[in-house]
Amino acid sequence: MTSLDALVMPDKYPRAATYDPQWMVDNCMGPNPLWLLEDLSRDCTFRPGMKVLDLGCGTGMTSIFLAREYGVEVWASELWLPAEDNAARFARAGVGDQVHAVRAEAHDLPFEPEQFDAVLSVDSYHYFGTDDLYLGYLSRFLKPGGQLSIAVPSLHRELRELGGAPAHLRTGAGWEVLAFHTPEWWRFEWEQTGLVEVIASRAQSDGWLDWKLWCEVCAEHSPDELVRQHSRAEIPMLDTDRGELLTFALVTGRKNGSAE
Ligand SMILES: C[S@@+](CC[C@H](N)C(=O)[O-])C[C@H]1O[C@@H](n2cnc3c(N)ncnc32)[C@H](O)[C@@H]1O
Repeated sequence: MTSLDALVMPDKYPRAATYDPQWMVDNCMGPNPLWLLEDLSRDCTFRPGMKVLDLGCGTGMTSIFLAREYGVEVWASELWLPAEDNAARFARAGVGDQVHAVRAEAHDLPFEPEQFDAVLSVDSYHYFGTDDLYLGYLSRFLKPGGQLSIAVPSLHRELRELGGAPAHLRTGAGWEVLAFHTPEWWRFEWEQTGLVEVIASRAQSDGWLDWKLWCEVCAEHSPDELVRQHSRAEIPMLDTDRGELLTFALVTGRKNGSAE
């Protein structure tokens, strides 16, 4: 039995450690987004008053975190969940006036050109951002000098180099594992466009351990049977892999052109 308290890690994730672990588990849609965001924020900057797009925000835990921790204004954009549910969650969290819930598909975003100082996407960008042409679309919503930061499930080596996905990845992640890439892949993908300068592109050194701990806790403490099942299914994949291939990539770039 893994206790909920195992999720409270003040030395590693001091900001996330102040959030109720049961609340984090209740809102789970994938590996703990607050840990990923807290790690990612070591490479990027959020200042009070900044306008931030949280792309594929899920239940919006990262949007709440951004508003509370950094005093930014957030557009919490989500495809799978109704905006009304997220708006109610933001109001309950006391950030209803700072976080705007939007339902949108990533290729059809209802925003103005250069509306945002920053775009953040946690455990979501790999669903649409591996398309070579996508950055050209998304970057139009960023101001010159604006920051794009993503956390995505990642591999230490490209599947092409390995001749295909090993069985444990196919079983645990399905064919969608094809969308997992190395930090170097993301750096090349973005830099070649000439649209952004990549500031950091790194793998979490022990990302698989965070991922596994999160799965163990969600498998026991989530109120949602589907989340419990999904979490249980990922544990054998992580145990077999032991960080050999699987991790999270944290990538931050800045849109070219001078900031105002
Ligand atoms: C695994 S969930 C992660 C949610 C949240 N960021 C988190 O970390 O808890 C993946 C998210 O990607 C979003 N997503 C997937 N495909 C998308 C698309 N084509 N356009 C916009 N969002 C998409 C979904 O709405 C979903 O919330």
